[in-house]
Amino acid sequence: MHVPAPLTSVDFMQTIAAWAQDLARTLLADALPRRWAHVQGVAARARSLAAVGPDAGLLEAAAWLHDIGYLPDLAATGLHGLDGARFLRDVQHAEPLLCRLVAHHSCAVIEAEERGLANLLRREFAPAPRPLADALTFCDMTTSPDGEHVHVTSRLAEIHDRYGSGHLVSRTIRRATPLILEAVGRVHASGS
Ligand SMILES: [Fe+2]
Repeated sequence: MHVPAPLTSVDFMQTIAAWAQDLARTLLADALPRRWAHVQGVAARARSLAAVGPDAGLLEAAAWLHDIGYLPDLAATGLHGLDGARFLRDVQHAEPLLCRLVAHHSCAVIEAEERGLANLLRREFAPAPRPLADALTFCDMTTSPDGEHVHVTSRLAEIHDRYGSGHLVSRTIRRATPLILEAVGRVHASGS
């Protein structure tokens, strides 16, 4: 009888990243090509972060999947982190920590507060541990909408300009800016 070898943690991390890449490509490449370009850049940033250690594959998987909630088919609440995480939890039965990372990525709780959804978000998904959450914020906030590596201040300004000063997303970014800069600073300080 052939008994498969147990999945090592290295296998698991490579497997989850490859699975996430395939799923992201399937969902985004044709439907939202600019988001697909962005997440390819975010995943490349994730692979470049040496300091993440054993959770590297999980971080890369979250990078691939963090924006799937923008898909019109998945958008239920309008909070794209929550909508994407629900799909991963309920349809894909994904790793809980992956769902938590996607749900809360890039200080999503602030946008949740602006939308009156913060209690719902917190009830459904606990925030991810800070080093991983910081790493995903760093990758997302130093990658342009087209997938290019940019400085965090350019990224924040681009979001603000794209939505316009009165928009909920611009208000969110203004409130989240100190937290995002702190997260990016902590990742730099960790040696990545
Ligand atoms: Fe993103």
